[in-house]
Amino acid sequence: MHEFRYQQGELFCEGVSVEKLARRHGTPLYVYSRGTIESHFTRLNLALKPLDHMVCYAMKANSNLAVLSTLARLKAGFDIVSAGELYRVLRAGGDPSRCVFAGVGKTEDEIRFALKTGIYSFNVESEAELNRINRIGISMRKQAPVALRVNPNIEAHTHAKITTGTYENKFGIAYETIEGLYGRASRMAGIHVRGIQMHIGSQITTVAPFARAVRKMLPLVRMLRDRHQLEFFSIGGGIGIVYRPALESGRRMWWDPSRKRIRPAGAASLPLTIDLYARTLVPLLKPLGMRILLEPGRFIVGNAGILVTRVEYLKRTGRKNFVIVDAAMNDLIRPAFYDSYHQIVPLRQHPKSMAGMIKSDVVGPVCESGDYFAKDRPLVPVREGDYLSIMSAGAYGFAMASNYNTRPRPAEILVAGKTVKVGRKRETIAELVRGEAA
Ligand code: LLP
Repeated sequence: MHEFRYQQGELFCEGVSVEKLARRHGTPLYVYSRGTIESHFTRLNLALKPLDHMVCYAMKANSNLAVLSTLARLKAGFDIVSAGELYRVLRAGGDPSRCVFAGVGKTEDEIRFALKTGIYSFNVESEAELNRINRIGISMRKQAPVALRVNPNIEAHTHAKITTGTYENKFGIAYETIEGLYGRASRMAGIHVRGIQMHIGSQITTVAPFARAVRKMLPLVRMLRDRHQLEFFSIGGGIGIVYRPALESGRRMWWDPSRKRIRPAGAASLPLTIDLYARTLVPLLKPLGMRILLEPGRFIVGNAGILVTRVEYLKRTGRKNFVIVDAAMNDLIRPAFYDSYHQIVPLRQHPKSMAGMIKSDVVGPVCESGDYFAKDRPLVPVREGDYLSIMSAGAYGFAMASNYNTRPRPAEILVAGKTVKVGRKRETIAELVRGEAA
């Protein structure tokens, strides 16, 4: 669900014409809808109302200050993974006592900074890290609040690069060893065992893996809650979003990642909705009587952002049509990195039907064949100078952007109704060499 819609054939973000933004601010350009971000956060919060809960937005998905301050105003918590992210929370007016700090490689400096700032909890990923946090806690005469991250060894059926809950990857502590480690942690002078955490992966599009993981964790959580007076259970993030909207037929379709194709929705395989998520998980979690934490990133911002780009050239080789645009893999790396699908639509709707579509590769100017946004994609006919919108780019878009090929990163715009805020100015080339010496 989002607030990017055609009005009289022109794409609008809330009350603002996207083409006007593109002409005014240039391309490539990220455009975010504040209303969409707010509505996603609020819907999730409401669905979880029966639980004592805290939604900690996983800000790695999009850490622009304007986005963070929007969520801070709604009293969101934040899931952070670095000192830099904590700094951003503070700059955006967020509450550090609602922050959880995740990640397998927290440095001494980062731990000190977070402890001094007073975060809600460290999500600890190894015994070595626990020892380090304890040592720092003692030296600062504090008890660091921690949750151990349990790896429930559940297959989440998502892309290999974003699966985290199995023993094949570096995250969390093996389910079987967690009990002993809680025992040790509870005797550490610099540690306050406050909760328990899990996260099984990202872009999960069915409810089953979440339910399976929670069910698997429940006996352990109950036992540790009683033994160590744990206050919270964080079930992580990973709520998937729709990157491929329903097909023209009007029939509900969804992208099945395990089979890598679009399938009609049936009773057994409904795409994930917040309703379904809450309806399934709330009854499992409520009897625990604990505070439940969530760490959604993509769900909050994914469909709230687009990347606007301009067609530079059309090129036909022996076999293919290429639409060469001014955005590239450095601006949005997801297709290159994960083979991910992003819908691409023109800012001005084309009167022609599907029949007039031309199969094209939409590619950027970077010197790599991986630099594409779509392959063999039926696209309405476009001309040089036309604008296109790459949809669902609000999560892991700008956040993963780089300066590869010495390309300045795009500007970011936040729209609310008819008001437009420049959340980040476009980088200049001079800024890119700042700090370098010739
Ligand atoms: N909690 C933990 C511990 C995580 O590692 C992550 C994401 C989240 C929460 C938030 O997950 P989400 O709700 O956004 O699915 N760059 C990839 C996604 C990487 C996800 C990393 N961890 C992409 O573009 O698909």
